[in-house]
Amino acid sequence: MAAQPLESPTRRPDANETNADVQLQEPSLADGPELWRMARDSRVLDVNSPYSYTLWCRDFSETSVVARDAGAPCGFITGYVRPSRPDTFFVWQVAVDHDHRGQGLARRMLDSLADRLVPRGHRFLEATVTPDNTASTAMFASFARDRGCELARSPLFGAEHFPDGGHEPEVLFRIGPITDAN
Ligand SMILES: CC(C)(COP(=O)(O)OP(=O)(O)OC[C@H]1O[C@@H](n2cnc3c(N)ncnc32)[C@H](O)[C@@H]1OP(=O)(O)O)[C@@H](O)C(=O)NCCC(=O)NCCS
Repeated sequence: MAAQPLESPTRRPDANETNADVQLQEPSLADGPELWRMARDSRVLDVNSPYSYTLWCRDFSETSVVARDAGAPCGFITGYVRPSRPDTFFVWQVAVDHDHRGQGLARRMLDSLADRLVPRGHRFLEATVTPDNTASTAMFASFARDRGCELARSPLFGAEHFPDGGHEPEVLFRIGPITDAN
């Protein structure tokens, strides 16, 4: 099936946002390698196996987003609905290529994902953030603020949850309930 365009009715890009021409879609199988490339190039995200990104594009495209500039991927979100808590979608990774940052693209992707999932009953967004990730913290705070939602923070994963202390702690952000903007 052809990828469906996703766009938010709640946050239209303004004239100053040079990403206004960037199209948002559900990823397709062919996007797997580019999602992996963007995660690697972020130099911040955990870089999972190429296989996992391609698998994600096959099985979780409805809860994920890819942004394309003139057809070329320049940002993505991978997410899923929590099996044990179906009112909640989890945003696993968000990345925007360096030359597309600071122009509202991550917010557009978050809004489009929420606008797609909230009408289906998934009214809470969760994500984990490392305490030193200023950009990620600001991105989720911006989303919660503009959606008029609470953003609750609580510790989730500590050093003991990762091998050899090789990972920073992760704080759970829980945002919602998100109202249906449509
Ligand atoms: C986090 C990231 C996705 C943000 O992408 P972006 O397209 O530049 O973000 P936006 O332009 O949509 O900005 C969203 C909000 O975050 C703020 N923000 C973005 N980058 C910021 C930074 N480096 N410092 C402070 N605030 C920042 C913006 O000001 C905006 O807030 P506002 O609405 O209050 O003005 C991007 O920096 C990135 O890919 N980082 C590496 C990967 C990563 O850390 N991902 C998140 C963890 S999963």
